[in-house]
Amino acid sequence: MSGTDQHEPTGRGLHVRGLTARYGPVLALDDVDVTAPPGRVTAVLGANGAGKTTLLRTVSGLLPAQAGRVHLGTDVGDVDLTDVSAEEVARAGIAHVPEGRGVIPDLTVEENLRLGALLGAVRSTRRTPPTIADVLTLFPSLERRRKQAAHSLSGGERQMLVIGRALLSAPEVLLLDEPSLGLAPRVVSRIFAVLRELVDTEGLAILLVEQNARSALSIADTGVVLNLGRVVARADAAVLAEDDDLRHAYLGL
Ligand SMILES: Nc1ncnc2c1ncn2[C@@H]1O[C@H](COP(=O)(O)OP(=O)(O)OP(=O)(O)O)[C@@H](O)[C@H]1O
Ligand SMILES: [Mg+2]
Repeated sequence: MSGTDQHEPTGRGLHVRGLTARYGPVLALDDVDVTAPPGRVTAVLGANGAGKTTLLRTVSGLLPAQAGRVHLGTDVGDVDLTDVSAEEVARAGIAHVPEGRGVIPDLTVEENLRLGALLGAVRSTRRTPPTIADVLTLFPSLERRRKQAAHSLSGGERQMLVIGRALLSAPEVLLLDEPSLGLAPRVVSRIFAVLRELVDTEGLAILLVEQNARSALSIADTGVVLNLGRVVARADAAVLAEDDDLRHAYLGL
């Protein structure tokens, strides 16, 4: 440790360079650079159709990149994840929590988590995976509903369940698509507080996609604003939150 700041995160981060993706004639991502370093929350903001979901889908291998590179590493170069399958991206340590809170409704909370743990077990990440008990401790509302069918959960509890399931794969990078959508601010704060703690203590890298700029910037260190598939701004979260012109132009605040 001598000579190094022991608070400096040592995990790997996500490096996206020149990423371009299209749906037929629609250019949904146009030469996008984004970095999500370990121990930091990086917010990706932008209005409807800006390309936020497309960015996550392309990074996680669900959509082919037309151009550009995706790396997991300390700098561009460690592990090249460009054009590899979604399974390989997940195995490399990138977990994607898509919009929609997909759980298996007839299984209990615990059974849904066990499935996540099963997937985690085949992944060769550098981190030690948490146990199901660890995840239930992070989210006490889930602990109370451990034996309940997932379909009986509230929206916030479902969001906790899909995040908890993703954490069981011991990711180094967590991609979150609109986790706050439709949730009460109090519930969003609770979920974000848990995530922030993991980022600070474990050096997790989070790439947080949100249309809700206000809540995203409340947890993020830095922010990137997308418009029509292009990066139009990039700054510290506090600076973005104060930028009236930007907020009016792209964030609807
Ligand atoms: N499956 C698809 N087929 C064709 N075009 C698509 C498809 N998915 C997205 N698009 C288009 O790609 C662009 C980017 O969409 P994307 O879903 O990435 O935006 P977004 O920023 O996530 O928006 P939102 O805030 O509404 O979720 C939009 O023009 C959208 O209409
Ligand atoms: Mg979206």
